[in-house]
Amino acid sequence: MPRLQVRTKARSQQYEIRIGSGLLQAVGGLCRERLGADARRVVLISDRKVFSLYGTAIIKGLRAVGFAVSQCSLPEGERYKSIRTLEKTLHFLNEIGIERSDAVIALGGGVVGDVAGFAAAVYLRGVRFIQIPTTLLAQIDSSVGGKTGVNLPAGKNLVGAFHQPSLVVVDVETLNSLPARELVAGWCECVKQGAVSGRELLDKTTGFLEVIGKRAPLISPRLERLIASHCAFKASIVADDERENVTRADSHSRRILNFGHTVAHALESVTHYRRFRHGEAVGHGMLVAGELSKNLGLLHQTELELLNKAVRLCGPLPAVTDLDDSMIAGAIAQDKKRVAGHVKWVLLERIGTPRIIDGSEISSTLLRKSVRAVFQKRNSRH
Ligand code: NAD
Ligand code: GLY
Repeated sequence: MPRLQVRTKARSQQYEIRIGSGLLQAVGGLCRERLGADARRVVLISDRKVFSLYGTAIIKGLRAVGFAVSQCSLPEGERYKSIRTLEKTLHFLNEIGIERSDAVIALGGGVVGDVAGFAAAVYLRGVRFIQIPTTLLAQIDSSVGGKTGVNLPAGKNLVGAFHQPSLVVVDVETLNSLPARELVAGWCECVKQGAVSGRELLDKTTGFLEVIGKRAPLISPRLERLIASHCAFKASIVADDERENVTRADSHSRRILNFGHTVAHALESVTHYRRFRHGEAVGHGMLVAGELSKNLGLLHQTELELLNKAVRLCGPLPAVTDLDDSMIAGAIAQDKKRVAGHVKWVLLERIGTPRIIDGSEISSTLLRKSVRAVFQKRNSRH
């Protein structure tokens, strides 16, 4: 069973990621071991759907090791990743009397993890926080690294904090109940990490996708090892650049994890967050970033084909053929997450060699040409 340690450079924090099959049954013991005898109360935060699948068994396990457990159910979906949900959650923590020695446990996908983590970051100026991610995206990405936050009507993740978890418990069996589209979205994030990490992780991911495409079972020791490799990569980036230093533009800065995200955010915004799962938008975004990299003379065609093949293997993505290039270019120009007035693109020189490029260096004509080339090629799903 894979176990990983995450350390931040300052070594102010260190936590373990446990990955395995059937680990939910061991959550009580793992939490007690990590939180110690002083922790009396924990609050399990989940969305209604995930709670109905896994909540009762986890609460039983936590009570068995002596925790007083309260349950906080959030409505499901990205639109509830809001200040209002955060506020309600904070009132709940106050009502049940969470103390500094207690903890918040997030059970669910990235939405639950981000909201619960942010509540834990700010309540009493910080209480401990444990992640039990149940989507593939959350298992390989969002549960590791300490980014927490909520959306504003003006845009995603505009309010948040860095707050590292005390423990991450990944039970791969929870993926058995995950809807197909959520899996596709998670695979896209895996390809993103592979593309910026290097051939080894990209090939491992592509190889696994090919095997499950031939009907091999998803849940397997090989999946556990793959998730562990992704977590190890993400942890290595976080260890070196925990707070995504905006002055860094090197190929190990945390910003490289935003590969595919410039176009993804634009796609989500022009479709009012209704068409794409976040990972699906990243899938399209990587194709555009790859095409743009090639058109700028950075990325060789053969490497672009590896990337495109990996994205294809993730599964069908929602259609983009009705969205035109000027709409996307316009939305990119409005991106709220600019540095010194410009969007920072993450492009590729090779698989595993990302390069951060200032938006001012990319002409609108080239950007639009790259968007057009990708969107017209895509086979649509609807
Ligand atoms: P999500 O949390 O909305 O979950 C997707 C859906 O799957 C929900 O309907 C949920 O109820 C359901 N679900 C979750 N686990 C399930 C399971 N095991 N079985 C059946 N259904 C299940 O979406 P997500 O893709 O996990 O997360 C997306 C969010 O993560 C976005 O808000 C994004 O901004 C954030 N994110 C954060 C980071 C970070 O570093 N903090 C990184 C990437 C993404
Ligand atoms: N998902 C991007 C990050 O954690 O930095």
